[in-house]
Amino acid sequence: MKLPQSAWLAGIFTALASAAILPRDDEPSDSVLTPGDVADFPVLGFGDFDNNPSSGKRSTASHCKYIPGDSQWPSNSEWSVLNFFTGGSLVKPDPVGKVCYKGSAYDAARCANVTAEWSNSDLHAGHPTSIMSPLYQGLTCLPQDSSFANHQCTLGGYPIYVVNARNAWDVQAGVNFARNTNIRLVIKNTGHDFAGKSSGSYSLSIRTHMLKDIAVIKNYKSKYYSGPAIKAGSGIQGFELYAAAHAAGLMAVGGEGMTVGWGGGYIQGGGHSPLSSLHGMAADQVLSYEVVLANGCFVTADKDTNSDLFWALRGGGGSAFGVVISITVKAFTERPVTISTFNFTASAADVAKYDSGDYSNDDFWAVIKHYLSLFPEHADQGIYSYWNIFPSYTVKGAQTFTMQPYFAVGKTVAQVNALLQSLVDTASAHGITIHPNTVHYPSFYEGWKAGFPKETVGLYTSQPGSRLFPRANWANDTWDTTFDAIRQVVSASFMIGFNIAPSLTAGGVTEDENAVNPAWRNTVLHAIAGVMWDASIRNFTLIREYQRNFTHGPMQLWRDLTPGSGAYLGEADINEPDWQQAFYGCKYSKLYSIKKKYDLSGVFFAETAVGSEDWKAGNDRLGRLCRV
Ligand SMILES: *[C@@H]1O[C@H](CO)[C@@H](O)[C@H](O)[C@H]1NC(C)=O
Ligand SMILES: *[C@@H]1O[C@H](CO)[C@@H](O)[C@H](O)[C@H]1NC(C)=O
Ligand SMILES: *[C@@H]1O[C@H](CO)[C@@H](O)[C@H](O)[C@H]1NC(C)=O
Ligand SMILES: *[C@@H]1O[C@H](CO)[C@@H](O)[C@H](O)[C@H]1NC(C)=O
Ligand SMILES: *[C@@H]1O[C@H](CO)[C@@H](O)[C@H](O)[C@H]1NC(C)=O
Repeated sequence: MKLPQSAWLAGIFTALASAAILPRDDEPSDSVLTPGDVADFPVLGFGDFDNNPSSGKRSTASHCKYIPGDSQWPSNSEWSVLNFFTGGSLVKPDPVGKVCYKGSAYDAARCANVTAEWSNSDLHAGHPTSIMSPLYQGLTCLPQDSSFANHQCTLGGYPIYVVNARNAWDVQAGVNFARNTNIRLVIKNTGHDFAGKSSGSYSLSIRTHMLKDIAVIKNYKSKYYSGPAIKAGSGIQGFELYAAAHAAGLMAVGGEGMTVGWGGGYIQGGGHSPLSSLHGMAADQVLSYEVVLANGCFVTADKDTNSDLFWALRGGGGSAFGVVISITVKAFTERPVTISTFNFTASAADVAKYDSGDYSNDDFWAVIKHYLSLFPEHADQGIYSYWNIFPSYTVKGAQTFTMQPYFAVGKTVAQVNALLQSLVDTASAHGITIHPNTVHYPSFYEGWKAGFPKETVGLYTSQPGSRLFPRANWANDTWDTTFDAIRQVVSASFMIGFNIAPSLTAGGVTEDENAVNPAWRNTVLHAIAGVMWDASIRNFTLIREYQRNFTHGPMQLWRDLTPGSGAYLGEADINEPDWQQAFYGCKYSKLYSIKKKYDLSGVFFAETAVGSEDWKAGNDRLGRLCRV
């Protein structure tokens, strides 16, 4: 299956590639690779449906994916073929932090920039390999660590090569190459996933970030839906989706996060949204996908074509079934929005007790209890809210609640203030002043832009975990214990919370219609908490101990209170026990069989993705990927 290994041929490919004979910008964005294109290049040949393990490819010869140093690792001339076929878009990137380390890559100005921008999601979204949760890369090239004695920047869990895909053609070439050479493949869109799914040791990465075509379809018509729709490349990010929709007087269901890669793991994993309490999950809106399969074929998946794949790609998660190239979704006529922001901290009476060692903050928590008690009622009004509780910067022992923002589509300032009045009154009764800053915007787009600050990313001194709290926990007999567990966990930690209710009714779907985690449908609170450790710690034995204690301590408390519920796969604990149930619920067995149908040989892998239990990348997830 190897190319003719003659030196002149390899030389020609290298020359062709470096001369950029295929100009990148002239390449049509709708180019599709066909078997005829690669007839002379077996390393890019198409697979069968991966149902035929006797096809003699390298992929069937080994239990493990190949890594550099293995005799079967692709030769330079094979990499040159991939580079040639992808118009020179194959790159071998340094870690983003390498410019801070002594050596040929050192660059003081860029280092200063990377260091300053570390928590800015644009830095990582704009880099071919960088991810927003560097913990899962192994922390081997943090710019902050370049002054550590004897510390050198290494690749860690970052991919070795990246195809900066411009179209389906490039993606197909990358998938075929990885499958035929039996190397690990990862897919990166922006890198927002909490478990670092868009990274992986010794891998080839396909980057979908540049698939930016977007078109509004004013009158989409099929036998299932008539109305406005948007067709977007999978590289489209939240801010681009919203801007394009707004320009046509529309809004679409996307994340709150400005830079989140809407068309990647976000929508495939379900995708929660400021519009969820009104319109359900992002995945509920999908009319059609264009997808590159594990065998290299470019196909459509909708209700009539590859309908099982279509079902799985609406909630079953990214990096498991194929590489999505484009998505067509329902859009909605834009509506005005009122948003409110406010914050509060401990009462004077709470703070007065600190001297005697009493950090119970009873007033503070009484106000939070009142606010949380409103969640079913507010969600029923179509409200979404996004807020957090963090230790106070200024008063040791206190915590601050920040609402950023309370988001009310179609409501007036007076209506929103009325919804918040009992909270203001309760706070006042507890010696806490809340002044909601409530502002009306004429459109969803303007409200969203004003309401949501850009995400802070790049943290590596905490392990997050999350739980979807169902409405049933608000019943009289369970509410007090539910609140007590939230208070207990968050008093010693932090919380990022969402009042959100993406019910089946809101989404206009039936339970069986797509693969969205059923736990979402009864949820009124998506709660993220985490354990934090000292910023100086790099000892992974110790970090794993913090993680283990968190997973089996505080998070178990939340699991015990919400039996049968789950967690959102994109913002979860990577160590979630029984993650198949937690992230996919009763849909897991069907998802697993669809995985086996479309990707029997395991071309696609990401931690906690469907079928990932069949593989293991070592105890620390940073080693060679092998079948278990
Ligand atoms: C870092 O570089 C980017 C791109 O050149 C620039 O937009 C940004 O302002 C820089 N940031 C800082 C803190 O200098
Ligand atoms: C809380 O709100 C006040 C008034 O709007 C603002 O000045 C302050 O920065 C906010 N504090 C936090 C921690 O967000
Ligand atoms: C729950 O308690 C409230 C007030 O304590 C009461 O009005 C309501 O009827 C109770 N609901 C149920 C279902 O018992
Ligand atoms: C790392 O942490 C573990 C657990 O606390 C400890 O036993 C070990 O000595 C530490 N290793 C180093 C190199 O400090
Ligand atoms: C983990 O929990 C054990 C048992 O409670 C405790 O002894 C240990 O100190 C904890 N480790 C960390 C890193 O918090």
